[in-house]
Amino acid sequence: MKSSQELLAEAGVDSYLSKKACQQPTWPDREALAAASLELCAKPPLVFAGEADQLRELLGAASAGRAFVLQGGDCAETFAEATADRIRGKIKTILQMAVVLTYGASLPVVKIGRMAGQYAKPRSSDTEIRDGVELPAYRGDIINRIGFTEEERTPDPARLIEAYHTSAATLNLIRAFTKGGFADLRLVHEWNKGFTKSPAYSKFEQMATEIDRAVRFMGACGEYFDSLRTVDLFSSHEALLLDYERPLTRIDSRTGDPYDCSAHFLWIGERTRDLDGAHVEFMSKVKNPIGVKLGPTTTPAEALGLIERLNPDAVPGRLTFITRMGADRIRDSLPPIVAAVRDSAVPVTWVTDPMHGNTFTSESGYKTRQFETILDEVRGFFEVHREAGTTPGGIHIELTGDDVTEVMGGTEEIDDKKLGERYETLVDPRLNHQQSLELAFIVSELLQH
Ligand code: PEP
Ligand code: CO
Repeated sequence: MKSSQELLAEAGVDSYLSKKACQQPTWPDREALAAASLELCAKPPLVFAGEADQLRELLGAASAGRAFVLQGGDCAETFAEATADRIRGKIKTILQMAVVLTYGASLPVVKIGRMAGQYAKPRSSDTEIRDGVELPAYRGDIINRIGFTEEERTPDPARLIEAYHTSAATLNLIRAFTKGGFADLRLVHEWNKGFTKSPAYSKFEQMATEIDRAVRFMGACGEYFDSLRTVDLFSSHEALLLDYERPLTRIDSRTGDPYDCSAHFLWIGERTRDLDGAHVEFMSKVKNPIGVKLGPTTTPAEALGLIERLNPDAVPGRLTFITRMGADRIRDSLPPIVAAVRDSAVPVTWVTDPMHGNTFTSESGYKTRQFETILDEVRGFFEVHREAGTTPGGIHIELTGDDVTEVMGGTEEIDDKKLGERYETLVDPRLNHQQSLELAFIVSELLQH
């Protein structure tokens, strides 16, 4: 019988090795890397191929307007913050947003966390210089540490194993919270407890009361179905670090196809979507549903090239384009891409990331975003798709369940002065719990029109 590594090699998953891989660390200890890689190859998969298939079908429904995608979580997860409280906070935020969207738009919501594996970050420079000292840039907890010493910044392969275990623990909590009673719609009021009063919270309370009544009504009729008790929350991250993604790739025993079992959904970032690069090559070989971020410089030809490379069989739900154009550019740069893709007749799930094209540095020096600008990109996304006759299929955002002050604006009116109060992100600014709910209410209205 062939070994699983032989089967993977036959399936061609190593073809990426002959291509250029951008944004990879330089591991000083190659032997330690080889040992970590072998160890990962022997680990159980974090997710199962059948689950990824199920998500692909749901994303296919979203491409046709029969569902809406909500993908959210940290810009960068950290090992230290993989605590029960933080994870529960994020799950709760996603569930609350999903309830608002489902109820408001009468559409099933496909819930995907930027969770349980979002540990690798692309950087604009390989190194960072402070006071004349030059060290490797922080590339995420899966590679090195944020502290500015040589020891902390040296890429350490042992962190690949720690990333695997932290992902496993996070996924375990996700599964427990979403299947073990916490996500029961009959507890919809509980999710809002502990937050101070504000317009978004009172609106949620009101909606929760209506849902409660509807659920009780169904109960009185003798009908509590399973989907009221549990939800599916899928995992996702940027498939950036190939030294992690490849060792977690497995052959599906049902079909003989390779799946990247580090998460249900993987995406290729704006900086690694080169058609001839290693990331596109690797992702073309695995069967998961996948995404590609498209920034404002994307040409229609590039989008068509990605479709050809990544979804040659035109499978619904296989390919999601996550556009992140910037609010000031989306109305100009998105239409030609959408038109070309529409005319190719290959199904694509369109998702807006209104975060990454709208980052700037505030006067006091914080990397931030404006809530109003984020909304403007979301509105632009809906306008462009409505105009083109295509489907706005979902939203991808950076959020946290905590009351951080990282994004300016919203009804709390966070201004430059307030940013310093609770600015905790290691990389990009995230919507806090309340801003996330506000956004969900606005998107649910956009979906109704
Ligand atoms: C991200 O999603 O955190 C990210 C780096 O995005 P992009 O690749 O779109 O810049
Ligand atoms: Co980010």
